[in-house]
Parts: sequence; C-alpha cells; structure tokens
Amino acid sequence: MIPVVLCGGSGTRLWPMSRAQYPKQFLSLNSDKTMLQETIDRLEGMQEGLVICNEEHRFLVAEQLRHTAIQADILLEPVGRNTAPAIALAALQLEAAGRASELMLVLPADHVFQNTHELNRVVQLAAPVANDGQLVTFGIVPHYPETGFGYIKRGGELDADSVYKVAQFVEKPELATAQAYVDSGEYYWNSGMFLFRVDRYLEELAKHSPQILASCREAMQATQADLDFIRVDTASFQSCPDDSIDYAVMEKTDAAAVIPLDAGWSDVGSWSALWDLKEKDANGNVLTGDVLTESTNNTLVVSQERLVTTLGIEDLIIVDTKDAVLVAHKDRIQDVKKLVAQIKTAG
Ligand code: GDD
Ligand code: MG
Repeated sequence: MIPVVLCGGSGTRLWPMSRAQYPKQFLSLNSDKTMLQETIDRLEGMQEGLVICNEEHRFLVAEQLRHTAIQADILLEPVGRNTAPAIALAALQLEAAGRASELMLVLPADHVFQNTHELNRVVQLAAPVANDGQLVTFGIVPHYPETGFGYIKRGGELDADSVYKVAQFVEKPELATAQAYVDSGEYYWNSGMFLFRVDRYLEELAKHSPQILASCREAMQATQADLDFIRVDTASFQSCPDDSIDYAVMEKTDAAAVIPLDAGWSDVGSWSALWDLKEKDANGNVLTGDVLTESTNNTLVVSQERLVTTLGIEDLIIVDTKDAVLVAHKDRIQDVKKLVAQIKTAG
C-alpha cells in the first residue's frame, strides 16, 4: 500500500495564518508537527510514499518531509487542476514503476484524526475490498448538514466485514438535501480519503473522464527529474480539465464502496472547527501564544508575535499574525473567505 498525499490546497478559510504562499497543510495547528507531517507520521508500517503539490511549494514540502518517517517522491504540478488529475498523475507514476496492481491510499494533507490507531485499523480492513477492484471511500457519521462535504448513501454489505457498496454518492449537496440526508441516518460524509488499486482508478477515470486521463498521460510522458522532484509537462497539464475525484469519478462509478470510520476525523475547515477540536480551558477557551484573558468564554485566540488581551467577550475568533489580525464571531467564521476575496480584489 502506497500513501499518496494531496498537498495542493490553498486553505483560505484559515486566513490570516493560512496564506497562498503558506497554506494550512504546512502549518502546525494541532501539534508540534505540521499537518503534512502528521498525515504521514500517523500511518503505521509505511516506508515510502508520493506527495503531489504545486511547484511553488516544492521546497516547503521537501523540507517538511525530511522530518518524517517515509521516503517520498514529490510530484510537481505547474498549475492546480484539482484532485482527479492530481491523483491521476500519482497513479501514472506508479503504473510506470510497474506497480499498477498495488493499492494507493489517497490522503488529504490537511486533516486531523484523534484516534490514529482506529484509522490504521480501518484502512487495513478496507484493503481486501480495494484489492478486489472497488474504489473505497471512508465514511464519517455526519452530525450536522455540512454543504462542503460529499455524502455517501450506504448500500448492501460486500463480502467483507463492514464494507458496503455505495448506493449513491452526492458531492456537496444543497442545504435542504444535506439536512434530509443527515435526518435519514443512511448517509455518511466522504472523508476525502480513498483506497484503490492504481489500475482500477485509471480504468474508472478512462471510463468517466477520459479527457483528464489523456492530458495526464501526456503530461507524464515528458516528466523531468530534478533532485527529489518530478516535474510534469506544463503545456499538457495546463490543458487538463479541472475537476475533483468526487465529481469526475466517485459520483459516476459503479465500483464505489464505503467503510465507516469513527476516528475523531476533522478536515479543520474553519477556525471554529479548530476550536471544536482542541482541548479547552475551564472557560471554554482555546488560547495559543502570548494571550491573557479576563471574563472571556468559548473563544479562540491565536497570537503569533505579541501579547493579546481580551476582556468581557464570548464566542469570538481572534487571530493575530505579523501583518494581519482577524476578529470574528464564531457563527460567521465561514465568511472569512469573503474577506480574503476582498483582499485579493483590493490587490
Ligand atoms: N496536489 C493537489 N492538487 N492537491 C489538491 C488539489 C490540486 O489541484 N486540489 C485540492 N487538493 C488537495 C487539498 O489540499 C486537500 O488536501 C484535498 O486535496 C481535498 O481538496 P479540497 O479542496 O479540500 O476538497 P473539498 O474539501 O472541497 O472536498 C473534498 O473533501 C471533503 C472532506 O474534507 C471532497 O472529497 C468531499 O467529498 C469531502 O467531503
Ligand atoms: Mg477540504
């Protein structure tokens, strides 16, 4: 089994700590390690891997990988074309290395698990089904109608312990639909992790999104090795359609399977998600850095450079960095992306 780590996200929802030059996966939000390092180090029994990232982050990735337990090749994308092409590049690289029948474990580089032992157990449980040719997703029991996730309806049990056929896969439904899914108790969230055979992904991609496969094949025919980096051909990759694995393959394939995963997963999609995740003090606060509070409740304060003090507030998110400060109500935190959009237009 080869871990394939997707490291190309821009993580705008954790602004101002997460920046285009330095997105969330490269930050230490949950421990001393960065999220990329945690993604790799939580895996048991793996010695090698593949990381796919944007070219501009190559030195960050290389430096962070030096402090992990695995030996990884780094595939460089000249532009972002979303996850279906990124995974295709990895699959083609493995195919070229004669490893088409092996399993690839696709992992987003910016998620958190509280119970890594359970994660590893479930991954091993999914392996025989993936070896049989299924595209396995990991299903999280939903506790609210998140519209930023994919939803998976469980079908019949496969010939394996607690692995099911996917009856329906719906990427990012509207709120009313998401609410109905949650109420029904029949749906899981897609964790964004996948386990499948290299050749099976390529076959399903050929069937459902042949244009992506064609562009990626072309891009991989003219790779250039440079230190530990593998650069793909810019012109061919630029011509590749932009699509996620969820839309390009998972919604369409008949070969999808799901295995339930209950391991304290979070995609840390916002500052309030981080507050949720972290251990709180007696007043429900999560305080990082030089912070002093009085009559402050259920608040997250991150200070990177100087003393931050709060008085008589609750339910806020305060993030102080060298050149930008965010003060927001927890209920509005998803709208940070609106601020980031304004900053971008303002240049
Ligand atoms: N290398 C590379 N190149 N990685 C990418 C690219 C790309 O072009 N685009 C995204 N990624 C990485 C991101 O860094 C992230 O780790 C992962 O792929 C998923 O991309 P997101 O952009 O975060 O996807 P999403 O959050 O909208 O949706 C996915 O994840 C949800 C769970 O967090 C979907 O799989 C949903 O179905 C799922 O519920
Ligand atoms: Mg995400």
